[in-house]
Amino acid sequence: MKPINVGLLGLGIVGSGTIDVLSRNAGEIARRAGREIRVVAATARDLTKERSVSLEGIKLVNDAAAIVNDPDIDIVVELVGGIEPTRQWVLAAIANGKHVVTANKALLAVHGNEIFAAAQKRGVMVAFEAAVAGGVPIIKALREGLTANRIEWIAGIINGTTNFILSEMRAKGLSFETALKQAQALGYAEADPTFDIEGVDAAHKLTLLSAIAYGIPIQFDKAYTEGISALTAKDIAYAEQLGYRIKLLGITRRAEQGIELRVHPTLIPAKRLIANVEGVMNAILVKGDAVGPTLYYGAGAGSAATASAVVADLVDVTRMLTADPEQRVPHLAFQADQLHNTPILPMGDVRTGCYLRLRAYDKPGVMADVTRILADLSISIDAMLQKEAEEGEDVVDVIILTHASPEAAINTAIKRIEALATIAGKVVRIRLEELS
Ligand code: HSE
Repeated sequence: MKPINVGLLGLGIVGSGTIDVLSRNAGEIARRAGREIRVVAATARDLTKERSVSLEGIKLVNDAAAIVNDPDIDIVVELVGGIEPTRQWVLAAIANGKHVVTANKALLAVHGNEIFAAAQKRGVMVAFEAAVAGGVPIIKALREGLTANRIEWIAGIINGTTNFILSEMRAKGLSFETALKQAQALGYAEADPTFDIEGVDAAHKLTLLSAIAYGIPIQFDKAYTEGISALTAKDIAYAEQLGYRIKLLGITRRAEQGIELRVHPTLIPAKRLIANVEGVMNAILVKGDAVGPTLYYGAGAGSAATASAVVADLVDVTRMLTADPEQRVPHLAFQADQLHNTPILPMGDVRTGCYLRLRAYDKPGVMADVTRILADLSISIDAMLQKEAEEGEDVVDVIILTHASPEAAINTAIKRIEALATIAGKVVRIRLEELS
């Protein structure tokens, strides 16, 4: 059978990994796909640069147009990242009848509806396993393995950089800044790590998971996003004393009034498997009504691990190439005309437990004032912890864990507590999920 010709946009870490995996496992891959899959052309910024992989038989070009318009190329693999001009290249490839494999979560989270609609109209596939959690086949699991289920919720550690930082802060008591510097020195965090640490990268990925879990359009603009830059080693240590770990979680839940879509630091019980995912690893917990909770764990980034997902998509696309488009797995798991406009819940309507840390003057009646504020707002207290004042200080840390309550009520409580004359400074709030 005629080999499948792949054009690669981007010859960076994942691009080189893709060439390496395709060549090292060529025999097994061809046995699975039914034909050879070979990279015939690639774009590179520097055509003369020494590469870690052999580029024999690969035509190097510095213009993406030479690949997306090449009639001999069957599948375009987009590994450049960013939104423009990649959006135009992907749309041009689709318009030319080419299938697309991409690792670009930002592009799909922001323009996925447009891209999938164009692909649907043209009858081509756009596969994106590598866009979420690197080598972990979570897209495959949600689009295919769990199709019998009504998905109830998903909670995932889907950014390795922040998980590494939080692991180092907990294990070594490091400050956020020191742990971030380590992540950068090890090459995990980008030189400008804003997308990682402010939760944007996780929100891109979560938005895609939410769409394929519930059969809704991609709505990144409605995701609530809060990163880890304000977290202190102190709160991580207090959480630990209470039996919890703090993780940056992406959570999407089917609630009565709509769908929750949120990324924020979260206390989770230390005994949960997912609480023990350390370093740069990723893990996604999916709760289906039939199967119950399932957990997917593995490397969320890296050359070969991400290439594993890219190549799996290449095999899938190759197998389905000649199938009637109607018979293929729909881009967003649900048939394109069956997407529902279930609303994304505003954050004020979301219910979570909370960790609140107050700095209180150690005087009679302080706790009575605080607990009255919570009671007036029907916020139920789960646990309380008062620490001893540190040497030379006249305020003490008080930690309150609440049962699940509406975010809007917690916001009001925080404002009222901060206004008390017996409370110093701001209240620290970290949301809490039992994941039971
Ligand atoms: N920057 C991402 C992370 C890797 O730290 O998980 C690729 O998505």
